[in-house]
Amino acid sequence: MEIEKLKKSLNELNKEYAKIKTIPVEERKAFGIEMNKKKQEILAKIKALEEAAEDAKVEPLDITAPFDINAKKTEFKNTGSKHPLMTELDHVVDIYQAMGFNVMEPRQLDDEFHMFDSLNFSKGHPARDGYDTFRTSEGFIPIAHTSAMQNRALSTYKERLEKGGQIAVVIPGRVFRNEDVDPTHEHTFYQCEGVYVAKEATMGELLGIFKNFFETYYGQSLKIKTQPGYFPFTEPSFELLVEKPKTLSGKGDGWLELLGCGMIHPNVLKAAGIDPDKYKGFAWGGGIDRLVMMKYMLNDVRYFESGKLNFLEEF
Ligand code: DAH
Repeated sequence: MEIEKLKKSLNELNKEYAKIKTIPVEERKAFGIEMNKKKQEILAKIKALEEAAEDAKVEPLDITAPFDINAKKTEFKNTGSKHPLMTELDHVVDIYQAMGFNVMEPRQLDDEFHMFDSLNFSKGHPARDGYDTFRTSEGFIPIAHTSAMQNRALSTYKERLEKGGQIAVVIPGRVFRNEDVDPTHEHTFYQCEGVYVAKEATMGELLGIFKNFFETYYGQSLKIKTQPGYFPFTEPSFELLVEKPKTLSGKGDGWLELLGCGMIHPNVLKAAGIDPDKYKGFAWGGGIDRLVMMKYMLNDVRYFESGKLNFLEEF
């Protein structure tokens, strides 16, 4: 190392300097000055090298350090775990994947076209108000339903139709609505959307998918039924009701309204460049939170977003 070498020459210089006693007195002054000059040069070099080495040292970054550098380090007693809604959402997606559906993720911020226009909501249509949408100052919309992804799902997979295949996609994701919160309403919740398009598609097939899905999810045989509904993007439109599953506490009674569905409106297919005279499709979308609340007999949807550890630790 350079510093070591310099220190060695410094030692030698000192030894050399000791010879001063052996040289004639009149030469001693010049000899001393010369020696001292060399010594100062070496010392300056050593100092510069030491400073450079100090500057090059990188303090290791401790990302667990508390903001108050005088405080003791935080010790985490508990390790984190997956949020119960995420576990359930994975379960939901697994069931659809086993049926052959592809999965897409929505954007959390989207635009007017995907949220409304591409879904056959004409400009100024009163149904737009039914979605209680938030808006950013730039005009973006935190999506109020996963249907905002329908146009992208259809466009992404439409070449499959020409090859004689189908579009079969599910889209699980987080949605946002500007509504008053209470035990059954949250401003932030989860939905799962489904889209299917092929040469032929019928409501009968859709009901078959639902029966299969709910029986797998709740692990018991369940009745389902439809009632008329209204959505601009399906014609006809339905609401799907599922018999309340029997829970540990006993027999379920009554019906749960779990999702909206219907045959995809021709204008929605056209907006994605699909010819509605050649292809047909059905779509559905429903809340995940409610599905999970029923499974675990929870009575307040707000717990999911609350970060309450005693609630989360029950799962
Ligand atoms: N997006 C609707 C909602 O949040 C639910 C829905 C209804 C989705 C019908 C669909 C559908 O795909 O076809 O209220």
